[in-house]
Amino acid sequence: MSAPAVTADVHVPFHVASIDDDDVAAVVEVLRSGWLTTGPVAAQFEQAFSAQLGGEVESLAVSSCTAALHLALEAVGVGPGDQVVVPSYTFTATAEVVRYLGAHPLVVDVDPRTGNLTAEGVARAVDELPQPIGSAVRALVPVHFAGLPCEMEQLCALAESRGWAVVDDAAHALPAARRGIPVGRYADATAFSFYATKPLCTGEGGMVVTRHAALAERMRVMRLHGIDRDVFDRYSAPDRWRYAVVAPGFKYNLSDMAAALGLSQLTRLRAMRDRRAEVAGAYSAALAGEEGLEVPPEAAAGDLHAWHLYALRVLDGPDVRNRLVRELGELGVGASVHFIPLHEQPYYRDSYGLEAARFPGAARLFDQEVSLPLFPGMTEAQVERVAEAVPVALARARG
Ligand SMILES: Cc1ncc(COP(=O)(O)O)c(C=O)c1O
Repeated sequence: MSAPAVTADVHVPFHVASIDDDDVAAVVEVLRSGWLTTGPVAAQFEQAFSAQLGGEVESLAVSSCTAALHLALEAVGVGPGDQVVVPSYTFTATAEVVRYLGAHPLVVDVDPRTGNLTAEGVARAVDELPQPIGSAVRALVPVHFAGLPCEMEQLCALAESRGWAVVDDAAHALPAARRGIPVGRYADATAFSFYATKPLCTGEGGMVVTRHAALAERMRVMRLHGIDRDVFDRYSAPDRWRYAVVAPGFKYNLSDMAAALGLSQLTRLRAMRDRRAEVAGAYSAALAGEEGLEVPPEAAAGDLHAWHLYALRVLDGPDVRNRLVRELGELGVGASVHFIPLHEQPYYRDSYGLEAARFPGAARLFDQEVSLPLFPGMTEAQVERVAEAVPVALARARG
């Protein structure tokens, strides 16, 4: 039987950033204002960001999620020789920031169904460690793969019982919620990404959020060279030339141009997330019955999925999956694979002796995963095109 034809006239890139006229006007206004770096608009963005998490947290705008993670781990006191639990199934940024501080990533396997850490898996992995490595664990960094929230109440309870800090990598998880509580309110500090493909984008950018005043203060100082006052204070206060360097800090502040884009996008964050969820629902409805495919898990009742990625599983394994990505490309559909797990990356594999056999969950997900296009501006024609292209490309990939 020959494969059904696919209409070839609709091209679907993997991602297109959602930028509307209000976004453009907001950035242009900053450009015309004469104040381009961190200033009043970044402060407004921070306040609005805290408000969308329900208040009672402080938000600090930074240059990336990587910067946010670095600041947060430094602020909770991670230092040389410490161990920090990270999932195997993540982007290198989650682990590299641990190395910036001279600490070591303790790479733990994930649940292959969700791609997320579980409290049970983390406890088991840490309890198997020899001493003194086990007692050097200082922090836990959950990642909400694809925007599906982790079991934060259980991970935070485990961390509390062991005396670890929780620094949440929420690069994919805006807006997301677990048991009705937004991601951003569970951990000691939470890092969000505004990278070009993320649910809210400023090109490059991020936000670090905390409910602890002391952590906020430390991160505020370290975000800007370890200077005891913000750029805007420095240029607007009467004694504007005077400042004190109280620590060797970093250069991680966000410009007002980027903040204007973020502030404008924040007004339609929920609408953009809902459109992503709608597209994901359409894909799952179309593909759930296809033999050899498994659609990604939905959020549990009371949880909110950010749907940053639509992570389809190809049960045939990596060869067919790799060919499927190429065949989709031939059909004009941009697809990708998330992630190449840490245990497959030469630096982490070789530095820490990470063998694939110790990470069966991440290894299985990596063998099967393919990310389909998912962005708020997708047209119905584009959604249909992807849904009909997948079975055709899969048939071709199977040869
Ligand atoms: C899980 C995860 N953490 C952190 C990051 C880093 O984000 P940023 O590019 O904003 O530094 C990414 C980026 O893709 C990511 O996927």
